[in-house]
Amino acid sequence: MTNHKIHHIQAHQILDCRGYPTLEVEVTLSNNVKSSAQVPSGKSTGKHEAFELRDKTDEYNGMNVKHAINNVNKIINPKLIGHDVREQNQIDNIMIELDGTENKEELGANAIIGVSLAIARAAASSLGIPLYKYLGGDNANTLPIPFLSLINGGKLAGTDLEFQEFFIVPSNAESVSEALRKGTEVYYSLSKILINKFGKSLMSTTDEGGFALPIREPHEALDFLEKAIIDAGYEGQFKFALDVAASHFYDYKKNMYILNNKELSQDDMLNLYTDLVSKYDLVSIEDPLEQDDFHGFTELTKTLKIQIIGDDFLVTNINRLKKAMQTQSANAILLKVNQIGTLSEALNVAKYALDNNYAVQVSERSGETEDNIISDIAVALNCCQMKAGAPARSERTSKYNRLLKIEQELGINAKYPTNFFI
Ligand code: PGA
Ligand code: ZN
Repeated sequence: MTNHKIHHIQAHQILDCRGYPTLEVEVTLSNNVKSSAQVPSGKSTGKHEAFELRDKTDEYNGMNVKHAINNVNKIINPKLIGHDVREQNQIDNIMIELDGTENKEELGANAIIGVSLAIARAAASSLGIPLYKYLGGDNANTLPIPFLSLINGGKLAGTDLEFQEFFIVPSNAESVSEALRKGTEVYYSLSKILINKFGKSLMSTTDEGGFALPIREPHEALDFLEKAIIDAGYEGQFKFALDVAASHFYDYKKNMYILNNKELSQDDMLNLYTDLVSKYDLVSIEDPLEQDDFHGFTELTKTLKIQIIGDDFLVTNINRLKKAMQTQSANAILLKVNQIGTLSEALNVAKYALDNNYAVQVSERSGETEDNIISDIAVALNCCQMKAGAPARSERTSKYNRLLKIEQELGINAKYPTNFFI
């Protein structure tokens, strides 16, 4: 089977949606199949994430990734030439060993994940099957519920709203296309409400395409979403979710959360969430507490009885996931492939989670590209949930559009988890 062998791997520098440099990696096989992948980047990153290598030179304000590119072209490429592209685990392990560090700081997780994703795409193309089938097999047919992030704060917005993401979650659609249509219509109605309230000059969007608003309180954002849903004619057809990204307003010296100039303890945070859950139809909260507070996550998961997702908390890392399972902290993991640095490791974490009754939500990064691989990954895992920002702007819609394409492709075999959040 010589024709699935790697002939050449080449990386070059492109720009992500924030205008920061990132890598595109192209894999060429000996049968002339060429496939590529583009690497996303976080801004509201967890401190335990794999290392993103940047050059820190004058160009692009120190954001160049030429060193990482060089690592792909000069170090990874020669080691992988001749390997069968279907041996994803083996190839990823070679790169992990070649790097030799705990968090991939030698070669850069951005270099390694670019190669890892491009390898998977090349294997699927070489076999002539869609990527979601290649990764998930014949049973990969469940389209995920899209978590649509319509209002943003925290590090993604530069406003006084500290909570980072406010989602609408379609809850009674029969298909992903219906869910996206209704969700996008709510986005339109939200934009009308906001223009009326704040005027056109205040209409600005954030890193993930959601709205940036001059508000401070989480309930104000949720009230806007509720009204937008009613105005769009879909009362009762959406739930809500939050990504709090609480580490980013945690004061490590005081051991307190600083919200609106007030100092809140872990108990105060729990009371705040209990209040929000009682007033709004919240089904999921991501990173409600500081990223190393396993004990707090345990308390909160037990008390709130809704989905609690670990993003900065679990960083797509099997060891952190296992520890969270032992301590019953959180009950879902956010899956960001570049947080760990290889596709094999990310898929292993996801499978381990799903096998042990932990939910998995596949996620974009705030610094995205046109690459839509996360949609294939979400379908491959049948994990039922994915977040890719607002349903506007191409680096976000490329993911949602890929879901629509997969839905078409699967035809009558396409499944959709209508009642996942009831
Ligand atoms: P990031 O943030 O991609 O900037 O890390 C998104 C998130 O916290 O989910
Ligand atoms: Zn997050």
